[in-house]
Amino acid sequence: MRDHHAAALARPSETTVKPAETLRRQAQVMSTIAENIAKVGVRIREAAQASQRDFAAIGLLAVSKTKPAEAIREAFAAGVRDVGENYLQEALDKQQELADLALTWHFIGPIQSNKTRPIAEHFAWVHSVDRLKIAERLSDQRPPELPPLNICLQVNVSGEDSKSGCHPDELAALAQAVTQLPNLRLRGLMTIPEPTDDVSAQCAAFARLRALRDALDLDLDTLSMGMSHDLEAAIAEGATWVRIGTALFGARDYRTS
Ligand SMILES: Cc1ncc(COP(=O)(O)O)c(C=O)c1O
Repeated sequence: MRDHHAAALARPSETTVKPAETLRRQAQVMSTIAENIAKVGVRIREAAQASQRDFAAIGLLAVSKTKPAEAIREAFAAGVRDVGENYLQEALDKQQELADLALTWHFIGPIQSNKTRPIAEHFAWVHSVDRLKIAERLSDQRPPELPPLNICLQVNVSGEDSKSGCHPDELAALAQAVTQLPNLRLRGLMTIPEPTDDVSAQCAAFARLRALRDALDLDLDTLSMGMSHDLEAAIAEGATWVRIGTALFGARDYRTS
């Protein structure tokens, strides 16, 4: 009744009916996400073909940092099932809003040790573990009713000081220690190389990560590497997750994050 009255009393400018122009623009954004997903799918398929790899072995991780829950909902409607988020609070808010969708959530951002509990509780994968203390806390704090948390160790293959990721020399000891933690499942390695348009440099960085994975001799099935501008090189070098933001959702607007 109250709603009925409220609607009857509302002046046209107060109703929730959106003007045609707003609806048209929203529809455009939505169809763009679906189109972008199709385009990225073609890029992944062609890259897989070029390196004679099975397309099905390459997962698309949609990186939605700074993008609204509605954009993820649209991506889900177009077939996306795996979502990567960098910022914890932003991710938790979106998870609540999208609780009705069967999404798998991946944490891919830098991890502060005081934030490990909600990460252990609310994600299926963490791609950005680069030190043992974080891994130990994630294992200790993983709720027992959940399956082990899938882990990738982030490695700094470019040797830049500013980038997160463990040094390649520290990797073997870290990986060994992580395999001993009961509530984690070490799946593989992740990297964010120095950005470059030089395809041979892109390939060299990704090949380095693959070689580091192979040298561990730990039966790891995952290489999380490749973003919007370099997914082809990553797939050529064995990526099993490509983490794609801009090519799916457009440029990020940090003012709204
Ligand atoms: C860890 C990580 N992976 C992937 C991406 C996606 O990058 P792009 O938007 O270039 O596809 C980002 C974006 O910031 C990121 O932080």
